[in-house]
Amino acid sequence: MDKNHSIEVHDLSKRFKLYHEKATSLKEKVVNFRRSVFEEFWALKNIDFYVEQGETVGIVGRNGSGKSTLLKCVAGILRPTSGEVLLRGQISSLLELGAGFQPELSGRDNIYLNASLLGIPVKEVAKRFDDIVAFAELEHFIDNQVKFYSSGMYVRLGFAVAINVQPDILIVDEVLAVGDETFQAKCLDKIREMQRNGTSILFVTHSPDLTKKVCSRAVVLQEGDMVFIGEAKDAIDSYHDIIIEQKLLDAELGRSSSNEEKIISVESVSLKSVNGQTIDKIDSGDSAGITVQYKSEADLDDCVFIVEIQNDSGTIVFSSNTDSLEYYPVIEKGTGNISFTIDALPLTGGIYMANAAIRKRGTSNDYDRFDRACTFKITAPENNLGIIATPVQVKLESLNNTISI
Ligand SMILES: Nc1ncnc2c1ncn2[C@@H]1O[C@H](COP(=O)(O)OP(=O)(O)OP(=O)(O)O)[C@@H](O)[C@H]1O
Ligand SMILES: [Mg+2]
Repeated sequence: MDKNHSIEVHDLSKRFKLYHEKATSLKEKVVNFRRSVFEEFWALKNIDFYVEQGETVGIVGRNGSGKSTLLKCVAGILRPTSGEVLLRGQISSLLELGAGFQPELSGRDNIYLNASLLGIPVKEVAKRFDDIVAFAELEHFIDNQVKFYSSGMYVRLGFAVAINVQPDILIVDEVLAVGDETFQAKCLDKIREMQRNGTSILFVTHSPDLTKKVCSRAVVLQEGDMVFIGEAKDAIDSYHDIIIEQKLLDAELGRSSSNEEKIISVESVSLKSVNGQTIDKIDSGDSAGITVQYKSEADLDDCVFIVEIQNDSGTIVFSSNTDSLEYYPVIEKGTGNISFTIDALPLTGGIYMANAAIRKRGTSNDYDRFDRACTFKITAPENNLGIIATPVQVKLESLNNTISI
């Protein structure tokens, strides 16, 4: 093992067996006795990377891509089918919600139990006990059985225990998202403090912003394959490419659920370049068009077309409608397109989705709405956080500089 590395993952693969409990006849059951019916499934394939001492590496990927399985292999909870994991130092992990807690025991007993599993002597735990409880903000509840804790309380206790054992390596899976914002901010501060103290961290989150903020590098997993490793910003970029390529964000999910016949409906929504081509990638700040294809069963003159753009946390970052543009379309029975041209989309890099709705003028009733009808990616040159990306100039003026000769 390289002396600068805290974690080395060598050519690691993990296979699960998926058992099929088919409704079989007694005869079949007898025939298949002791011959289990299963399918092999590779959750991880030839994963190879390292984490340097003091480095924070993120793992990103869609649901089911193998992130938690990888963390469990690193934490030693799962045994890899092939390959190996090498670790240098004491490891502490915060995996799935409530993992490692005994529901029947109190918070207090669980702290002692967890610490003892990590090999920390009782005396040492007693010294850190108050800090753990204070960090978790569970002073009033520490003697309650943890089965009565809310999911936020579980995570707070889990995180407090995981960090207060002062590990050399910390492994965190997702769970931070469960705590409220104040607690998340506190955890982030703590993570930063641990980074300064040289702790190596392996970190799974679904938040691209958090990955960019906390991790220097990140691994991208896709169906068990490591498809990218590199700078966090580039990893997020590659992850977004996967989303776009696979078009996995099921647009149909955004369809309003009613089955009733609609007078007019949104058939599709597409992003267009300035020259009218349908695109799914655009540079931040470029102009673009959003075209809504509709199908109408009647002649209508009371339709308001609404388009919205939302980011991947669901925040609407842009919205426009024909009424506010003082454009009152007269719709004839049949299909047609209505196009909105947007001068500039100065948004930070990431995945965005366009929604469209057709509303009956003067009411709050939609004739039809199609959310997340179109997914696209915006590329920004800078590693920006937040919502908008726009050129900035900076200047320093020193006001107390009165020295003159
Ligand atoms: N014990 C198990 N037995 C069988 N299959 C499993 C087991 N654990 C995980 N899997 C499968 O392995 C794949 C990867 O699961 P994993 O939990 O690692 O995904 P993930 O990337 O953490 O997803 P998420 O973002 O939803 O947390 C999934 O298809 C999952 O169903
Ligand atoms: Mg997971």
